Amino acid sequence: MKISVIGMGYVGLTTAVCLADIGNEVVGVDSNIEKIKQINNGVIPFFEPQLGEILNRNINNNLNFIDDIEKAIKDSDIMFITVGTPISETGEVDTSQIYEVVQSIGKYINGYKVIVTKSTVPIGMNNKIINILKNEIKVQHNFDVVSNPEFLREGSAVVDMFNMDRVVIGSNCKKAIEIVQEIYKPFDTKFLITGFETAEMIKYASNAFLATKISFINEIANLCEKVNADVLSVAMGMGMDRRIGTEFLKAGVGYGGSCFHKDINALVNISKMVNADLEIAATAERVNNNQRKKIVQKIEKILENDVRDKTATILGITFKANTDDIRCAPSIDIIKMLKEMKMRIKVYDPIVNKEQLKELGDIVFCKNVYESLEGTDVAIVLTEWDEFKNIDWEKAKKIMNQKIIIDGRNIYSLNEIKEIIKLGYKYNGVGRNIV
Ligand code: UGA
Repeated sequence: MKISVIGMGYVGLTTAVCLADIGNEVVGVDSNIEKIKQINNGVIPFFEPQLGEILNRNINNNLNFIDDIEKAIKDSDIMFITVGTPISETGEVDTSQIYEVVQSIGKYINGYKVIVTKSTVPIGMNNKIINILKNEIKVQHNFDVVSNPEFLREGSAVVDMFNMDRVVIGSNCKKAIEIVQEIYKPFDTKFLITGFETAEMIKYASNAFLATKISFINEIANLCEKVNADVLSVAMGMGMDRRIGTEFLKAGVGYGGSCFHKDINALVNISKMVNADLEIAATAERVNNNQRKKIVQKIEKILENDVRDKTATILGITFKANTDDIRCAPSIDIIKMLKEMKMRIKVYDPIVNKEQLKELGDIVFCKNVYESLEGTDVAIVLTEWDEFKNIDWEKAKKIMNQKIIIDGRNIYSLNEIKEIIKLGYKYNGVGRNIV
């Protein structure tokens, strides 16, 4: 099949690369020529494990990247739309990039096409796309629209793509459904065929539910600290019940990243417009914001409120491990709060560069863990990078000013924590009640 993928963010590039890897002829399109040049040189414009390797084994064979959307539309039978749909401050979804792509399709369409919307779009958007093409642009050629929401995670996008739990296909056209099913067949997965609105809602509801699961376990973790229970074992015990499941029950600093925050706010906004209450999702977001403050309160408490001019070392800036994405990362808010309290900040992250942190102003950017721990009063783990699991705390204690660790990701087992405490550290995790 001749496929074009429009929008080379992490969803678009992963989709293009993996669809080419299973034998399709794929062209990836982006209006950013620099990005296209970079990808054509075999370089991924962001950090995503395994993606570069698969890109390089397919590029120039059946996988090409161009900035010419006209050519891409004319040369392909199926177009995946994977452009960004950010939200405004008020929670409204900005669909301008979708509109732009649809205008181009309307202009350059030259025969039957299947238009597949992968970007997360407001409920009703796929119908609008049909409307624009048919009634506004008055397209003369046949086309079908399919809603095919994306469930990939940053940091494990390739693994997720080759092990997808399901493919949701929202469409009322049998021919288009069959074409999209054919594309996904090699992934050996389950299909759910629905209407447009249902497919669009599945994406929002899934992200809202996952975010709610995290906020729920974070509230339980906060309670565990007060009643002397251990949240890791609580989550394990809950997860052993198949009705609950083990995933997304890791307590910590709360969720970050652009997706959960964006999609929950969009969903709450949609619910307001149609006068439906969505209290749980809205609360999940509020609980998540508070979880960041809880970490700051812990720092204040463990330093006995003597925080002014003390040094805090932030270990991990990205919103999760295995990505370079710092959008809505808990670390950013926490650093801002600590700076308000007049603490000095040192940071270390294995992948983030200094340039990404320039909005934070006066912070000390360190090149390795030990440089960041030198002279510090409190080490705060905010991303679960593997590297942090192997820190030599014996070595660190000789260079730290005070021996205090706040583990916002619960990266250590109880046995490891015991060893750390034996070295003379004060240790505080989330929902573990150990000091
Ligand atoms: C999320 C969804 O998981 C994907 O299915 C979806 O496709 C994607 O959003 C999207 O809409 O594009 P992503 O944001 O990349 O994926 O990453 P997640 O692995 O879901 O993690 C989100 C945040 O939740 C991270 O900050 C992570 O550290 C946190 N998290 C996750 C927890 O605090 N606890 C957990 O148990 C799991």
